[in-house]
Amino acid sequence: MEVGDEPLLKVRSMNVKLAARNRLISVVEKVDFDVFEGKVSGIAGESGSGKTVSMMAILGLLPHGSIVSGHAFYGGQDLLVSSEKRLAKVRGKEIALIMQDPHSSLHPMLSVGVQLSDHVRHHLKLSREDAREHSIDLLHQVRIPNPAASFTAYPHQFSGGMRQRIAIAIALACGPKIIIADEPTTGLDVTVQAGILHLLRELGERRGLAILLITHDLGVMSAIADRVTIMYAGRVVETGTAEDVIGSPRHPYTAALLAALPHPERPETDLVPIPGQLGPPGLRPSGCAFHPRCQYAKSQCSSVVPDLVEVRPGRSHACLVDPFMATL
Ligand SMILES: Nc1ncnc2c1ncn2[C@@H]1O[C@H](COP(=O)(O)OP(=O)(O)O)[C@@H](O)[C@H]1O
Ligand SMILES: [Mg+2]
Repeated sequence: MEVGDEPLLKVRSMNVKLAARNRLISVVEKVDFDVFEGKVSGIAGESGSGKTVSMMAILGLLPHGSIVSGHAFYGGQDLLVSSEKRLAKVRGKEIALIMQDPHSSLHPMLSVGVQLSDHVRHHLKLSREDAREHSIDLLHQVRIPNPAASFTAYPHQFSGGMRQRIAIAIALACGPKIIIADEPTTGLDVTVQAGILHLLRELGERRGLAILLITHDLGVMSAIADRVTIMYAGRVVETGTAEDVIGSPRHPYTAALLAALPHPERPETDLVPIPGQLGPPGLRPSGCAFHPRCQYAKSQCSSVVPDLVEVRPGRSHACLVDPFMATL
């Protein structure tokens, strides 16, 4: 990907406030990220950092009473101000969502074939017979063994990994341009996880799909992402190519996440957990929200919220101390 490529989805200065116990709580602040055709763009950060809320905001799926501001440019329109009617056309058809638990997208009482061909018929207006053929082809594309027999089977007859592949087939049924995969492999075995990630990467390359991979696991991210955005406490703290962000992190939070990750070639190496924890929104520290957990924090970090600064095209970070600058 060239730095100058125009993104398919461009999110800028997105803020989200959620209504909780009669007050509004700021959950996502000034979030920027891009999603590119044929590439895997990733958003990583600990649970509670605002990843899912950001996706829901873009798709207009937040609970009533939420307040969203900023921009999400897609196909010449701003999704954050689009009508519900327009968003309903984008959701599923142009931007598909895969969640962690395929149970939430698969109906337990309907065969895989019925669920898949329903989507195909609805979106592509195909005859029953053509929809069946197209559905079996989709099962083949997501590498379900014996697609014709699987067409008549029920979700419970498949393993968790296979169910996630079926959910991906359903997402593909309407020919989306973007697939948002929110923790698609969380809870799956490592080898099953690797297979699903490989499939997503392959779909991006083969079908020119843009994949937006959301995960709390930087290991998952590093396996397939081209670009990575790291979030902490509702804000972007670092962004760049996966190679740059994972190879030479610029923000202390990213560095700490990497130090807490087991190394595949050196599993015996001591892991360094990040001290403290990410507090709930509404009770977050002043200044840089990471400062109480940061070994590099200086006094200004507790009062000044660092802006995301672009150090070169496509590479940004938000840290007043910038402790790793000299090493780059
Ligand atoms: N409907 C809601 N009402 C109030 N708070 C919420 C709601 N949904 C999520 N949150 C809070 O917003 C924060 C971000 O949540 P989320 O986006 O789900 O995090 P992530 O996906 O990064 O794990 C969390 O602290 C969560 O508790
Ligand atoms: Mg989430």
